[in-house]
Amino acid sequence: MPSARRGSATRGREGPKPKALAYTSAAMLSYPKPRFPLHLVAMARTRSFYADLSPDTAVVAAGRPEWEQGEPVNPPVLFSSTFISRGVPGEGEATYARYDNPSNHPTEEVIGLLEGAPNDAVLFASGMAAIDATFSLIPPGGRLVMPSHAYNGTGALARLLASQGRIRLSTLQIDHTSDVVAALAGGEGCAPAARLWIETPSNPLLEIADGPALVEAAHAVGAVVAVDNTIATPLGQRPLDWGADLVVHSASKCLGGHSDLILGAVVPVSKEHDQLLRDFRRIHGASPSAFDGFLLLRGLRTLALRTERANASASILARRLESHPAVEQVIHPSLASHPGNAIAKTQMTGFGSIISIRLAGGAKAADAVAAQTRSWAPATSLGGVESMLERRRRWPGEFSDVPEDLIRLSVGIENVDDLWEDLAQALTRAEDH
Ligand SMILES: Cc1ncc(COP(=O)(O)O)c(C=O)c1O
Repeated sequence: MPSARRGSATRGREGPKPKALAYTSAAMLSYPKPRFPLHLVAMARTRSFYADLSPDTAVVAAGRPEWEQGEPVNPPVLFSSTFISRGVPGEGEATYARYDNPSNHPTEEVIGLLEGAPNDAVLFASGMAAIDATFSLIPPGGRLVMPSHAYNGTGALARLLASQGRIRLSTLQIDHTSDVVAALAGGEGCAPAARLWIETPSNPLLEIADGPALVEAAHAVGAVVAVDNTIATPLGQRPLDWGADLVVHSASKCLGGHSDLILGAVVPVSKEHDQLLRDFRRIHGASPSAFDGFLLLRGLRTLALRTERANASASILARRLESHPAVEQVIHPSLASHPGNAIAKTQMTGFGSIISIRLAGGAKAADAVAAQTRSWAPATSLGGVESMLERRRRWPGEFSDVPEDLIRLSVGIENVDDLWEDLAQALTRAEDH
């Protein structure tokens, strides 16, 4: 039995109370009293400090403590679920990590800054939790207009809310601008939309919505616009520049970039939305952990390098894939053959690292490709440093108009020729299936 337990069992019955340990030794007193680290996560710099910096500098510079002698270059990670708090907590005081986790403030600052927002991002425990929070802002019975094939989880959530009578739902091709504009306006017993959801490029068909035109049409009927910017990243497009009200991310993808975390973020423009999102997070318990917030911040520091490399490789691979005999269609916004190429050129500064291909040999050939690669991990998800691929319709929940033979490729940061050789041999071998 450990001695500490023996001691506590006998204490009070025999012998004197053990002496308190002498923590206040002379050696310890010679150090300056450490300052409570919360000031290191409370960013003192204002947005104007970063205003003239390019995003690839800001993503490295922001979310750091003030440069004080002897202070750390990186913000601390605070592994504490609760904080000392007596009496009625003051405004902004740290109390309990589900209510608000100060450890994640630097990460929230960086994402808000990258999106060009006046507010910090609000971090959530997953991309879906972030999407759920933005859907909660739709007034009861309000109509949501959204892509007929956005990320399938977003579609499933919207259908669930509609089946419960919480919202009304109109789904349509997000790249058919005039149809979306008409749907927003409503008419004949159909009220104007309360919310427009844009996903561009969409996952996995990579459709390109005309962002500025749709935002204008939505605002004209009083709808709030939210844009899922997961695939493009804030370095590839900035929906708030089009006038959008909310930007959403699955930070599990490109922002984190290492396939080692699940997080989401919403970047609100208005203070009102900011408060409602934080209230939702607190009440529903969709709060992210300090460790995931730290991993995300660490991943964000290399976002510019990673996206530059992955986007460039994706454009090269898309062109090479166009001439592979096993491939029937290549979908990437960089290609002249992509119907959204002209719009993408006007609203994107990077075409993204995701490519979708359709195989001449059908679903069987697509499955065979996924079984014969060594550089492309056969796994779901996207935006990591490691390249991945999957046949999307292997998921029963995927939209039925995503073709059975479609493979989604997420291009990582490996050598592009290695990636090509591996993919080309797998495609050639799959032709025999
Ligand atoms: C475009 C898009 N949005 C949202 C999500 C949901 O994110 P998460 O898996 O972090 O909940 C995903 C996930 O694949 C996605 O691809």
